[in-house]
Amino acid sequence: LKVVSVVGARPEFIQAAPVSEALRSGCQEILVHTGQHYDESMSDAFFRDLQLPDPEYNLAIGSSSHARQTAEILIGLEAVLVKENPQVVLVRGDTNSTLGAALAAVKLGIPVAHIEAGERSFDRSMPEEINRLVVDRISEVHFCVGQRAVQNLAAEGICAQVYPTGDVMLDAFTHYLPIAHRHSTLVRDLGLPSGRYVLLTVHRSANADDPDRLARIVAAINRSPYPVVFPVHPRTRKALLKAGLVFSANVSLIDPVGYLDMLVLEENARLIVTDSGGVQREAYFLSVPCVTLRANTEWIETVETGWNGLVQVKEDDIVAALAGFVPPTGHPPIFGDSQAARKIAEILMENYGNR
Ligand code: UD1
Ligand code: UDP
Repeated sequence: LKVVSVVGARPEFIQAAPVSEALRSGCQEILVHTGQHYDESMSDAFFRDLQLPDPEYNLAIGSSSHARQTAEILIGLEAVLVKENPQVVLVRGDTNSTLGAALAAVKLGIPVAHIEAGERSFDRSMPEEINRLVVDRISEVHFCVGQRAVQNLAAEGICAQVYPTGDVMLDAFTHYLPIAHRHSTLVRDLGLPSGRYVLLTVHRSANADDPDRLARIVAAINRSPYPVVFPVHPRTRKALLKAGLVFSANVSLIDPVGYLDMLVLEENARLIVTDSGGVQREAYFLSVPCVTLRANTEWIETVETGWNGLVQVKEDDIVAALAGFVPPTGHPPIFGDSQAARKIAEILMENYGNR
């Protein structure tokens, strides 16, 4: 079985790692990096931490508008697919890389398998929601994190080839956390008080690209009763500079960190404040309370179980949330059993191995 597997943005490298490992026995995986993320700290650091093989192709598309970025992925990937002629193209998540890759494949008549299918925020102002809707509609195989995603797909009339496999992010987490324990010294290096700091991440376009919203987040975080560590996504770094927003001395701004350092930063936090999809789930994996700076989330199970709170981006609401909340006692296995990648590889072999 020959699979072309496409990655481009930070969370996709993490999602790819366990699946790549599972595909290695019995399949040929051609890894294509679109180049959507390209800074050392946004790309190479992950290939290193995850010990991912170097991609066979890097389309080096870089940053630009949604249209240009997606179009360049379409053009670049078409050439790769014509040359490689795989039986299936594997995409994950909801980025422009996911969308461009899926479109390039179906236009050539190559089936698409989508990991993290069926996730919905029901907010079409998010570029990611549009990507998810389109990619699920044109994919042949849908790998879902859980039953809620299966139901979301069913509500859109997508019922064939839908497999609830669990979350490959949990597979990655389970495998890499012990490695992170052995290698990461960041909490100590930064002098962070274990269990008594807040970890912040912000990168969603709705927060980073709206100077008023970003100003409210900065004002609230400056009132945190605990020290805050904030690995800053380059989009947000640029937006903060442009808006002239400044954090107080209680907030340590650092460059984006690698995956191993991030897991340890998350694990030792008292509270995680984020707008990231991956970080919301990792907070749950680690039983660390999470506050999400969004009006909605795809990961609604984390809210329903009481481990994640959605907060309006208003200064006083965020400040109130920073005090934290009493975490619930229950912690059901809503993201599967860390065997998602193996199941995905088996299903791909079964479906496409003999074509
Ligand atoms: C993208 C995804 C988002 C995902 C996030 C993960 C889309 C539409 N969005 O958002 O779903 O949650 O990745 O992090 O695909 N930049 C750099 N260096 C880099 C990468 C980006 O400086 O290596 C800067 C550029 O100014 C760029 C901006 O960040 O314009 C945004 O990058 P982009 O990849 O377009 O979107 P993300 O916000 O990263
Ligand atoms: N992450 C990381 N270093 C950082 C910030 C995030 O390793 O400085 C990891 C995080 O642990 C999670 C993934 O990147 O596994 C989430 O990516 P991001 O927040 O960029 O995107 P999203 O999940 O929202 O699509």
